[in-house]
Amino acid sequence: MIYYNREGNVMMKTLITGGAGFIGSHLADFLVLKDYSVVAVDNFSLGTTDNINHLTHHKKFKFIKEDLLHLDKLKDIFQKNKFDIVFHLAANSDIAESAGNPGTDLENTFMTTWNTLECCRLFHVKKFVFASTSAVYGEATRTLSEKAGPVSPVSYYGAGKLASEGFICAYSYMNNIQSWIVRFPNVVGDRMTHGVVHDFIKKLKRNPKRLVVLGDGNQKKPYIYVKDLVEAMFFIYQTSKEKLNYYNVGVKDETSVTAIAKIVCDEMRLKNVELKYTGGSTGWRGDVPHYRYDLKKLNSLGWRAKYSSAKAVRLAVRSILAQ
Ligand SMILES: NC(=O)c1ccc[n+]([C@@H]2O[C@H](COP(=O)([O-])OP(=O)(O)OC[C@H]3O[C@@H](n4cnc5c(N)ncnc54)[C@H](O)[C@@H]3O)[C@@H](O)[C@H]2O)c1
Repeated sequence: MIYYNREGNVMMKTLITGGAGFIGSHLADFLVLKDYSVVAVDNFSLGTTDNINHLTHHKKFKFIKEDLLHLDKLKDIFQKNKFDIVFHLAANSDIAESAGNPGTDLENTFMTTWNTLECCRLFHVKKFVFASTSAVYGEATRTLSEKAGPVSPVSYYGAGKLASEGFICAYSYMNNIQSWIVRFPNVVGDRMTHGVVHDFIKKLKRNPKRLVVLGDGNQKKPYIYVKDLVEAMFFIYQTSKEKLNYYNVGVKDETSVTAIAKIVCDEMRLKNVELKYTGGSTGWRGDVPHYRYDLKKLNSLGWRAKYSSAKAVRLAVRSILAQ
């Protein structure tokens, strides 16, 4: 049976892995508004019920608590739900934490992808959208283009994502699965589970006079607002029609860690906060201190972010403080 939405488009039965996480829950909000029928799977290792409580009574939304590492359980979910499309977002998203524990990324970043792909193969799901990352490029000094190669990730997380991309390519070719590999920059907004904005707010709530900043504060990266990111991911999936689609998503400017500290202090109305730098060019081993995306491919597809990097950070701080 084919179902149609109000606009006459075919309704898609969608799986979001990591659907109780920061970005996954925003994607669920976005897709149910578009009349997609959404099943979110998450094991709550990083995500929370708070992120999805507002959706649990929505008739287009269903949540299943499950660990994607349990392949048999995942097969049951695929068999019962007959998905048309998978948005695979589940991963270890805490790069700093996994720097001391490579197995976290092998399991939660790579094996979750493999298990999900394997279910797509077995249950004939033909559309796969993947949350990849700038971390696959490693410490490149040039502007990062999708054409760059070979790429050399420096974190276990980046390696887990690059290995995932490789398997997506092969599964796509072998099983006729159309795939979209979307390489996110740093993403900010309410419901964040980690990251510099989240950390600074937490630390300043504990001690409003002094803020310890990892590194020398000159790390400079593009930050995108989560609603922009979700819209871009959906736009790419709807607009780009290749069998295998690679896209960087980003904004055209970057924000330094010191600038973020100042925005956070400003939004929290804190004055004369002492910034205490731990020193060195990176926050931790495996952190990439600076990168810039080449966005020509995305721009020529017809998409640009609404908010600049600095504006995205400010909006994120406001929405977290209002939470
Ligand atoms: N936030 C960013 O800045 C950023 C940047 C680049 C890429 N990404 C990618 O976007 C995706 C979403 O990231 P996020 O920031 O929302 O992180 P998040 O931690 O909030 O979301 C990831 C979700 O995956 C779930 N998960 C992890 N392992 C699982 C498992 N074995 N089984 C079931 N669920 C599992 C976690 O509980 C969490 O809810 C991730 O793939 C991440 O790598 C995020």
